[in-house]
This record gives sequence, C-alpha cells and structure tokens, in this order.
Amino acid sequence: MTAQSPIGILDSGVGGLSVWREIARFLPQEQTLYVADSVNAPYGNKSEEEIFDLASRVIEFLLTQHVKLIVAACNTITVSCIDRLRQAYPQIEIVGVVPAIKTAVALSKRKKIGVLATERTAKSSYQHELIKKFARKCEVITVGTNKFVPLIERGEEGQIREVLLSVLKPFIKHEIDVVVLGCTHYPLIADLIQEELGREVRLIDSGEAIARRVEVLLTKHKLKSKQKAGENRFFTTGSVEKADRILHRLAR
Ligand code: DGL
Repeated sequence: MTAQSPIGILDSGVGGLSVWREIARFLPQEQTLYVADSVNAPYGNKSEEEIFDLASRVIEFLLTQHVKLIVAACNTITVSCIDRLRQAYPQIEIVGVVPAIKTAVALSKRKKIGVLATERTAKSSYQHELIKKFARKCEVITVGTNKFVPLIERGEEGQIREVLLSVLKPFIKHEIDVVVLGCTHYPLIADLIQEELGREVRLIDSGEAIARRVEVLLTKHKLKSKQKAGENRFFTTGSVEKADRILHRLAR
C-alpha cells in the first residue's frame, strides 16, 4: 500500500455513502473504494457473530484491493465488533462510526437529546457507555428501529413517510431539540426527518468528524495522497441500478 492507494469504505448497504460524501468533500485528492453489502442488508437485525463474519468478508475484499485505511461506515458494525475486527486485521487502521452523542449534548439547549439508531445499536452496551460518559446531565430518548434501512435500500420514499411519524413520536413527545442520526443510512433521509420534526430540531451525524479523523490518521502514517483529484469506485453485492440511483441523488 502507498499514499496513492484508495481508502476502503464499507457498510451493510448504501448508508455509508453519507460518510463517503463527507470524505470525498473534505479529502478530494484521495481515491476511495466503497463496498455496499446490500444483498445482506440490514445488519441491524443480525447477531454480533453474523455481523462480524459479513464485515470480515468485505474487509478481506478491500485488502485484496490494497486499500491504505478502512472506514467501517456503519454504526451497527462498529458497536457490534470493531475491537474484534481491529484484532483480526492488525495490518490496517480501521475507523469506526458511533452516534455523535458528545456533540449533541454540547449543542442541546434544553439538555434533551434524541438518538435514532438501528435496534442493535440502540441496545448495545457501546451506546449505553457513550450515554453514560457524555450525557450524564442530559435526558436521552433512544429510538431503535430496523424499519428504515430496508426502505432506504429500496428507495421507498412513500413507505418511509408512512412510518416516520410513529417512529419519531417519542422525540416529539419529549420535546428534544437535537437528534443524533445514529445510523449512516439516516442522513440519506434527513430532509424527511427534518420535515417531520420541524426546523427548530437540529439533526447531527458523524460524517464530517469521520472525514477529519481519516485525515489525522493518513497524516500520522504519512499516507496522504499527493494527487490533485482522486477517483471514486463503488462496488455492491446487491442491485447496481439501486445503488446508482442513490449515488445520483447524492451528487445533486
Ligand atoms: N448503516 C448502518 C448503520 O450505520 C445500517 C445498519 C443496518 O444494516 O441495519 O448502522
């Protein structure tokens, strides 16, 4: 691997594109290689063992492509098995994504925040620890749902609108003023969530922080690209047309 090698990015599906978008914006000189494991999405209803096996398969593919750093652009993978993945692949840095609870607490005026994640992330001890560590003086309403990811994967906007209100109701009831998007798929429907919660509620995700972390690690390992513009490549284990549609929407 050299400074010109790509950054590998993986997710259970197209959600990690919300992280890829920030990396491509912040580090336009870098090559990226994105893998959406859409055929196996969602991961949110799978066991930790299954998630580890699926993520390992994708990481092994990324290693054959000589990536210089890996971003597990998925909260569910990170909270389930990031330590195990780092132990299994010590030859490469693996950056994980976790709900931006610390940032949300700092931004909340009412000291009432919402965390919207997959069921697995919401139930995880990792998320409980983050809340314990950073949100002691805050009311935290957690909503874990596996409803959105399959609908986002299929691009079913109408059906997402139908379930949105019932999923978000606890946030409205508790009058929270900041919502953490604790699944990388959710920034892809941020406009719909915002419409439902109202403009005064702030939505935050981890995308930009991850891009900054990637830069720090590339600098530390002397692996920053010296090119002017990097090439972005996308792979999916699922439907190319669906992934293409989402990419076009993101590029708008
Ligand atoms: N994008 C993944 C995350 O951040 C979605 C997990 C899933 O496939 O359920 O958690």
